[in-house]
Amino acid sequence: MLKLKKNLIIVAIIIFGSFVVWAIYPGNHKVIQPISYSHKIHIEKADLKCIDCHLYYEQMSSATLPLLEVCTNCHSEEPISKSPEELKLIDHIKKGKEILWQRIYKLPDHIYFSHRRHIILGKLECIDCHGKVEEQSQPINIPFIKLTMNNCMNCHRKHKVTNDCLACHY
Ligand code: HEC
Ligand code: HEC
Ligand code: HEC
Ligand code: HEC
Ligand code: HEC
Repeated sequence: MLKLKKNLIIVAIIIFGSFVVWAIYPGNHKVIQPISYSHKIHIEKADLKCIDCHLYYEQMSSATLPLLEVCTNCHSEEPISKSPEELKLIDHIKKGKEILWQRIYKLPDHIYFSHRRHIILGKLECIDCHGKVEEQSQPINIPFIKLTMNNCMNCHRKHKVTNDCLACHY
C-alpha cells in the first residue's frame, strides 16, 4: 500500500514536471500578433517579394520586420479591403503608431547568425528554414523549424560547413 502511494507520487511529479517544461519552452506557444497579417494576400494580390518588406537580408545579419512606413506605400486612411484587420492598420496609420510585431524566430544572444551569409553565400532559400510563408493567410505564430543547435548542425553537415563551436558561439 505504502509502495503504491510512493509510485503515485512519483508519477504525479513526473507529469507535473513535464507540464512545467512544456509551459516554459518558448517553441510551444502560439503568439498572437497585433494585426492578423496575411502573407498569402500580399504575395498573390499585391505581387510583393520578400525583400519588399524584409529589407535587409541581402546586406545584414537580420532580415528585420517591416516598419509602418512600408505598409503606407499602399494603405492609407481609406480602406482598400473589407477586412476589419485593415481597420486596425488604419488606426495605426492615423496615430502614426508603429505596430509591435512579435518575433517568432529568435536565437539566444550568444549565438551568431547571419541572413546575408546564408542567402548570398550559402544560396539558401527562405523556405529552407521558414517553410512555405507565401501560403500563410494567418500570421506566423509558431516557428516552422525549431532553432535548435541540432537543426543548425545537421544542415551544416549536409553542406559540409564548419561545426566549430566558435563559428556560432561567442
Ligand atoms: C539558414 C536558415 C535561414 C534562412 C535560409 C532564412 N532564415 Fe530568416 N531566420 C533564421 C533564424 C535562425 C532567425 C532568428 C535570427 C536571430 O534571432 O538572430 C531568422 C529570423 C528571421 C526574421 C525575424 C526578424 C529578423 O530580423 O531576423 C525574418 C523576418 C526572417 N528570418 C525572414 C527571412 C527571409 C525573408 C528569408 C529568405 C530571404 C530568410 N529569413 C531565410 C533562419 C533563416
Ligand atoms: C504593395 C502594396 C501593399 C503593401 C506595401 C501592403 N499592403 Fe496590405 N494589402 C494590399 C492589397 C492589394 C490588399 C488586398 C485588398 C483586397 O482585399 O483586395 C491588402 C490587404 C491588407 C489587409 C486585409 C487583408 C485581409 O485579411 O483581407 C491587411 C490587414 C493588410 N493589407 C495589412 C498590411 C500591413 C500590416 C502592411 C505592412 C507590413 C501591408 N498591408 C502592406 C496591398 C499592400
Ligand atoms: C507586405 C510585407 C511583407 C512581405 C511581402 C513579406 N512579409 Fe514576412 N512578415 C511581414 C510581417 C508584417 C510580419 C509579422 C507578422 C507575421 O508574423 O505574420 C512578417 C513575418 C515574417 C516571418 C516571421 C519572423 C519572426 O521571427 O517573427 C518570416 C519568417 C517571414 N515574414 C518571411 C517572409 C518570406 C519568406 C516572405 C516572402 C515569401 C515574406 N515574409 C514576405 C511582412 C511581409
Ligand atoms: C538549411 C541549411 C542551414 C541551416 C538550417 C543553418 N545553416 Fe548556417 N550555413 C549554411 C550554409 C550552406 C553555410 C555556408 C555559407 C557560405 O558559403 O559561407 C552556413 C554558414 C554558417 C556560418 C558561417 C560559418 C563559417 O564558415 O564561418 C555560421 C556562423 C552559421 N552558418 C550559423 C548557423 C546557425 C547558428 C544556424 C541555426 C540557427 C544555422 N547556421 C543553420 C547552412 C545552414
Ligand atoms: C551551427 C551553429 C552551432 C555550432 C557549430 C555549435 N552550436 Fe551550440 N548552440 C547553437 C544554437 C543555435 C544554440 C541555442 C539553441 C539551443 O539551445 O538548442 C546552441 C546552444 C548551445 C548550448 C546551450 C546553451 C544554452 O543556451 O542553454 C551549449 C552548451 C552549446 N550550444 C555548446 C556547443 C559546443 C560545445 C559546440 C561545439 C562542439 C557548439 N555548441 C557548436 C548553435 C551552434
